[in-house]
Amino acid sequence: MSRRSRLAEKLIGMAPVKMSKVYFTNSGSEANDTMIKLVRYRSNALGQPQKKKIISRIKGYHGVTLASASLTGLPNNHRAFDLPMEGILHTTCPHYWREGQEGESEEEFASRCAADLEAMIQAEGPETIAAFIGEPVMGAGGVIVPPKTYWEKIQAVLKKYDILLVADEVICGFGRTGRTFGCETYGIEPDIMTVSKALSSSYLPISALLINDRVYQPVADQSSEIGTFGHGYTASGHPVAAAVALENLAIIEEKRLVEHAAEIAPYFQGQLRTLLDHPLVGEVRGVGLIAAVELVTDKQAKVAMQPPGSMAAAAFALVQKNGVILRAIGDCLAFCPPLIVEKDHVDAIVGATRAGLDELQSTL
Ligand SMILES: Cc1ncc(COP(=O)(O)O)c(C=O)c1O
Repeated sequence: MSRRSRLAEKLIGMAPVKMSKVYFTNSGSEANDTMIKLVRYRSNALGQPQKKKIISRIKGYHGVTLASASLTGLPNNHRAFDLPMEGILHTTCPHYWREGQEGESEEEFASRCAADLEAMIQAEGPETIAAFIGEPVMGAGGVIVPPKTYWEKIQAVLKKYDILLVADEVICGFGRTGRTFGCETYGIEPDIMTVSKALSSSYLPISALLINDRVYQPVADQSSEIGTFGHGYTASGHPVAAAVALENLAIIEEKRLVEHAAEIAPYFQGQLRTLLDHPLVGEVRGVGLIAAVELVTDKQAKVAMQPPGSMAAAAFALVQKNGVILRAIGDCLAFCPPLIVEKDHVDAIVGATRAGLDELQSTL
């Protein structure tokens, strides 16, 4: 059996819900772009040509091709590119700390997010909405962890209107949240999953879509009538990339890296939360081995230095001087350590961050 087929079988076996087929691509952007084409093709195959719109979320990140950048909900990826393209909509960002209203509980905020989604579906016409895409935990938008009950409420709305659910597992997949997939951490049952990054630990470029029969069958039936499914990249499922991915997944299993991530996560998350006493820290959020520290100059007003982003950029440089490379996203410092991280590494990361923040404070 070819490596590509072995990898496809491996992924089907790992999937948290019953999936039927795997389609290989070379980047997260390509996977999400391909998803849009599959969803459109499927609606045409089902004789529902009006069912083409896809709902994404403000601050979601799904890539940078014209179509996947449209799914992305960040202004920098739209501005001056004339995006998003028609038929891609963005609903409420599920960031409780920032978007929650006075006196609103986390669960009530999750209900409001689901109500906003339903209102959008109603306003657009339910028969025009083909799919909803989301990262189980938003990454590049600033590590936004969904509020309690969010995913169950969103899924109930999607079921009600017969809308496909696409889970973008490009960051969460293969252990990041302490389970193999973010979908498992949040009880998400997707029709399509897109994976990349940790699929090969990015040693070589490879990505994939996992699709269930609900997606696959209408596409297969239609293409047997009209001819080939006219899509694919020269290097899709490249045997070398597939071999690297297979070996990478074998190492993750052998070394029990997902279990390790789950074991070390409470220490990582707990130590990061000790930063909450720092005058420049507004929120610490995260799950598993992904987290963000949101910086503020005024904890009550939840505001940071002007211009936006300058505070995290300054902190980032100071922390890096202390030997730790983070990522500055807006007014956040984002943390995404390797799955092999140990307690002494966590101490070094948190210590360098605190020292950097102290230094920043001394300059204000
Ligand atoms: C959740 C998510 N989806 C898609 C992408 C796009 O992947 P790529 O950069 O490989 O095109 C990324 C990249 O960071 C991502 O984080």
